[in-house]
Amino acid sequence: MNDSENTSGYARYLEAKRTVDERALNLYVWQRFIDHLNAIENTRSLHILEIGAGTGSTFFNVLDNVTHPSIIYRVVDLEETHIGALRHKLKSWAQNRGGNVVEYADRVVVNLSGKSIDVRVNVDDVLRYLESKTESLRYDAIIGQAILDLFDIDYLLTLLEDVLRQGGLYYFSINFDGVTTFLPEYNGDIDRLVENIYHASMKEEKRDGSQSGRRVLMELMRRGADIIQAGSSDWVVCPSKEGGYVGDEEYFLMEILKFVKKELLASQEIERKVVENWFSHRKQQISNSGLVFIAHQLDVLASKE
Ligand SMILES: C[S@@+](CC[C@H](N)C(=O)[O-])C[C@H]1O[C@@H](n2cnc3c(N)ncnc32)[C@H](O)[C@@H]1O
Repeated sequence: MNDSENTSGYARYLEAKRTVDERALNLYVWQRFIDHLNAIENTRSLHILEIGAGTGSTFFNVLDNVTHPSIIYRVVDLEETHIGALRHKLKSWAQNRGGNVVEYADRVVVNLSGKSIDVRVNVDDVLRYLESKTESLRYDAIIGQAILDLFDIDYLLTLLEDVLRQGGLYYFSINFDGVTTFLPEYNGDIDRLVENIYHASMKEEKRDGSQSGRRVLMELMRRGADIIQAGSSDWVVCPSKEGGYVGDEEYFLMEILKFVKKELLASQEIERKVVENWFSHRKQQISNSGLVFIAHQLDVLASKE
């Protein structure tokens, strides 16, 4: 049993998706982000805000790569279990590096040799958090990974713009962008219908989660932000020739199938029996190490003018 199998439900899905994200992340966009963060002067603390941080996938990548001696890093997530897992992992992360950890109800302060990391945690809805204007800081960087599809991007950016300093960085990664493909083909017409219904389920009045990658890019440009780097970060999950998937990715695939099935069952456009047959076929493909999954996504790094 690996670490992620010890966690349950959505938190396990987030842990299982880490290896998928690792392969997917656009390294040009990431490296420019890290280079920009590391170029920020050392005479004051570096302020970072991460929205929808989950169990800390991006958070730990940033801590591992940022050289600044004093970091104030605020994480906001709706789910207490995700923030709890992040805090737990932070303790191990710091202790493994010989760091000293002091825990408070809403903060974890880590001192590593010559480096101070002050992590402020909020279990909250990010919109409510930003609308409440409790935030007095102006951040150097705002991070959001696999989260923008859940929001009206125009409105979210309006709120985020208020707490980002001039010249500050937006790093938005794994923004879903309109392709969900399961291979090999099951039935061309049904496969297309499944994809269309799934994407349509991400649409609300002012939100179209299935187009979040291109929307964030266009919206940042409309606001006059400087797009420093943008590129694709597609998820590609393939079985190995010997059989099986990397890490806990079989679990990841099963969860993706369940997300899709839930939306299909809620739709009037496809019969229940067709959904059940599609699902059991795809599930069998996972068990036989035969399913390939592709989702198209975009990463964007921009600075506020
Ligand atoms: C798909 S997960 C991505 C987590 C993490 N960024 C990652 O890439 O592993 C989306 C995260 O956003 C959080 N979330 C969803 N809606 C939110 C909201 N309105 N405010 C704050 N967090 C939210 C969820 O609890 C979850 O942890």
